[in-house]
Amino acid sequence: MDTAVQLALRAGQVVRKALTEEKRVSTKTSVVDLVTETDHLVEELIISSLREKYPTHRFIGEESTSAGSKCILTNSPTWIIDPIDGTCNFVHRFPLVAVSIGFAVNRELEFGVIYHCTEEKMYTARKGHGAFCNQEQLHVTKETGIRNALILTEIGPKRDPATLKLFLGNMEKFLTFHAHGVRIIGSATLALCQVASGAADGFYQFGLHCWDLAAATVIIREAGGVVIDTSGGPLDLMSCRVVAAGTKELAQSIAKELQTINYGRDDD
Ligand code: IPD
Repeated sequence: MDTAVQLALRAGQVVRKALTEEKRVSTKTSVVDLVTETDHLVEELIISSLREKYPTHRFIGEESTSAGSKCILTNSPTWIIDPIDGTCNFVHRFPLVAVSIGFAVNRELEFGVIYHCTEEKMYTARKGHGAFCNQEQLHVTKETGIRNALILTEIGPKRDPATLKLFLGNMEKFLTFHAHGVRIIGSATLALCQVASGAADGFYQFGLHCWDLAAATVIIREAGGVVIDTSGGPLDLMSCRVVAAGTKELAQSIAKELQTINYGRDDD
């Protein structure tokens, strides 16, 4: 985990510098699914450094997967990397961008590191050892119901009318049930860190990926929270959907209300 922290710091420096510079932007699965040369550069920096130190380990990276690498979690030690989470924010200089590095062995998530590049906040958690932000221990909230909760979500890359109807319908439900608010901040990893920090009560999303979830899942669980599938069952890291909350009651209540948006699977 120390290696991951050092690499996230180095990557964060690159992202911070590039944030205000001119960028070359391309699209991936849809016209709003963006990538820049800095995403590629940072992923290469992280993976090549880790590969040199741990030559037998496997890697799942957002941009390597887009370029055609297989996204399959095996029992081997595997690093799961999002070089810039919040690429759309990054493109617009909206200062919520993060580097996310998770590590799994035997398909179990062992530790996670998320670096909030502009606020220079390092979120870390190792299974059984608690979750921290810059050495300060994190704790989730004890909110059990949707009423009065602050709930975060993210939009995902599909914008066809049927998907948008489901997306807005889900949001409308939580507002109708008097959630205090529903927020979209543009970075799934940082939204999940807010839940871990007790600054929000819950999070749900369809259309995120294993690299958005791997590190954040350990951080939320170690802060005392729960991370489950939108069906209410156990989390499936490859299923492109998630509910997270400070309590299992809130997580289950959120899951119960959601209409499913199908994004397929990362390992398909
Ligand atoms: C995306 C962001 C976005 C979320 C997407 C993610 P990226 O990650 O977290 O907020 O809606 O589902 O894939 O593409 O910026 O690394």
